[in-house]
Amino acid sequence: MIMTTKKILVTCALPYANGSLHIGHILEHIQADIWVRYQRMQGHQVYFICADDAHGTAIMLKAQKLNINPEKMITQIQLEHERDCYAFSISYDNYHSTHSKETHELLNMIYFRLKKMGFIKCKSVSQLYDSEKQMFLPDRFVKGTCPKCTASKQYGDNCEICGTIYTPLDLIHPKSVLSNTTPIVKQSKHLFFDLPIFTNMLKTWIHSSALQKEVINKIEEWFKLGLKQWNISRDAPYFGFKIPNTTDKYFYVWMDAPIGYMGTFKNLCNKNNNISFQDFWHPDSTTELYQFIGKDIIYFHCLFWPAILQGSNFRKPTNIIVHGHVTINGAKISKSKGTVIHIQTYLSHLHSDYLRYYYATKLSSRINDIDLNLTDFTNKVNADIINKILNLASRNAKFISQYNNGQLSNKLENPGLYEKFANSRHMIEELFNKRDFNAAIKKIMKLADEANQYIDKLAPWHIANKNNQKDKILSIYSMGIQLFRILMIYLKPVLPKLAKYSENFLNTDLTWDSIMTPLLNHRINQFNTVFYRINSKQISCIKNESKLNND
Ligand code: MSP
Ligand code: ZN
Repeated sequence: MIMTTKKILVTCALPYANGSLHIGHILEHIQADIWVRYQRMQGHQVYFICADDAHGTAIMLKAQKLNINPEKMITQIQLEHERDCYAFSISYDNYHSTHSKETHELLNMIYFRLKKMGFIKCKSVSQLYDSEKQMFLPDRFVKGTCPKCTASKQYGDNCEICGTIYTPLDLIHPKSVLSNTTPIVKQSKHLFFDLPIFTNMLKTWIHSSALQKEVINKIEEWFKLGLKQWNISRDAPYFGFKIPNTTDKYFYVWMDAPIGYMGTFKNLCNKNNNISFQDFWHPDSTTELYQFIGKDIIYFHCLFWPAILQGSNFRKPTNIIVHGHVTINGAKISKSKGTVIHIQTYLSHLHSDYLRYYYATKLSSRINDIDLNLTDFTNKVNADIINKILNLASRNAKFISQYNNGQLSNKLENPGLYEKFANSRHMIEELFNKRDFNAAIKKIMKLADEANQYIDKLAPWHIANKNNQKDKILSIYSMGIQLFRILMIYLKPVLPKLAKYSENFLNTDLTWDSIMTPLLNHRINQFNTVFYRINSKQISCIKNESKLNND
C-alpha cells in the first residue's frame, strides 16, 4: 500500500512553571505521546513539542514567597518538568518556555497585526485593588460570599457550590486572599481583543475541524451566551511581557501562552535548519496541527486561540483533542486537600510503562474523567503485562534458548493463526488513529489470550522430547515467539521501554512494516525477567504521599 507521508505538528498544553507535575498532568503527555509514536511508526513526519507556561500572577507570587527571582524559579521548574516527561518516555522534539525570545517576538508581531486590523480596543474597567499589596487582584485572589446562593469563601470567578459565574465585583464581603483586607474598587485602562467579530468564522471552524462532539456541544453553549471582548492586558506588578507603547501594562498570561506553541516550534526550527516555520504556520499550510488539552481549557483553545490566529494571518489547528481529568481512587486531584501523587513519588516505586498502560486502557475519544483506581491498576498491569504478554515470551523462549541455541524454527507451525494476528493490524490501526486506545488495548489483549491458549492447547511440554520430536516442539515454541513479536509491535506506542527490551530480546526492530514477515530461522536472545509484578507495598508507598482513602 502506498501511503503519503504527512507532516504533523503535535502539542500538549504548556504546564505552569509554578509547581511539580502530578500523575494527573502526565495523562495528557502520555495520550499525545502514544498517538505520536503510532504516527511515527506509520512513517509520518511528526514534530512533538511542549514548553512551560512561565508567566502570570501566580508565578510572580510563588517566586516572591520563595524569595527567589522568577526567572530562576521558572528555569528550575522547567528542568524538573523536562526530567519528568523524559522519565515517562514522552518523546518531545523540543521542550521550551514561553519566557523566551521567540515567543516574545511572535507575540509582539501578532499584537501589532491585530492592532493594525482594528481588533484591539481600549476600555476603562473597574477592578478590585488590594491597597496594602498595591496591586489589582486577579479573580482567584479574591474570596467572598456568593451573590446567588450566599455560600461563603467562594473565589472571584465562580461559585463552587451553585456553579454561578460572576466577576469579583459581584462578591458579597470580598477579601483579598493576599492580605485578608477588603479590597477597593479602582479604575484602570485595559486592552481588549475583539472576540465577537470572529463569531461566524468560529462557528464555521468548529464544524470544519474534527472536534469531539462533546466539545462542539460545549462551545455551542458559549455561542448562545454570546462571545465577549477579552481583556488581554494586566497592570504591574506582573511577571510577563510588557505591552509595547504602554506604561506598566503587561500581556495577560493567556495571551502569550498559546503563542508559546509557535515560539517553541520556532526555537526548534532555529536548532534544525531542515524544518520550516512558514511551512507549518502560514494560513494555507497543508501540514497538520494537533493540540492536546484538558477539558478545563477548551474556551482558550477553541475560541480565543483560533480567533487570534485568524486575526493575525496564521493557520488554525487541524484539531484540538480534549481529555477529561484524572481522579485517584475517585478523589479529585488537589494539592490543598492532600489528594495528590506527584510524578517523582510514583517513579520512585513503579515503572513508567505501567501507568502508560493503565491510562491507555482508559483513554478514548471521549472527554469523561478517568479514575486511577489503584487496585484496578495493580490487577490490570499484573494480569495483562506480566501474565499475558511477558509470560508468553518467557514460557516460549526457554526451550529455544536451551535446546536450539536461540534459533527459531524455519517454518510457521500455524500460518493461519499468524495471519489472523497480522491482519488484526487494520482494526488496530483505525483504533490508534482515532485515539480509541482503550479499544485497541482490548483487541490486543484478546489476541494475547489466544496466543496463550494456543500454547496451552498444544502443550509442547507434554510432548516427549525425543530427537524426532524436537522440530515439532521447537516449531510450537517458535510460534509463541512470533505471536509475541506481533503483539509487541502493536503495543510499542504504549510501552516504549518494554518494546525496547523486547527488541533486544528478539534481536530485531519492532516496526509496523514488518508485521507480515515472521522471524524464520532467526536467532533470539535469552529472556531475562526485568519487569516485575506490582505489589501492595509499592501501592502503599505511593499512597503515602497523599491522604487518599482506600478504594
Ligand atoms: N498553563 C496552562 C495551559 C496553557 S496552554 C497554552 C495550564 N497549565 S496547567 O499546568 O494547569 O495544566 C496543564 C494541562 O494539564 C492542562 O491541559 C490541564 O487540563 C491538564 N491537567 C491538570 N490537571 C489534570 C488532571 N487531574 N488530569 C488530567 N489532566 C490535568 O492550564
Ligand atoms: Zn453560589
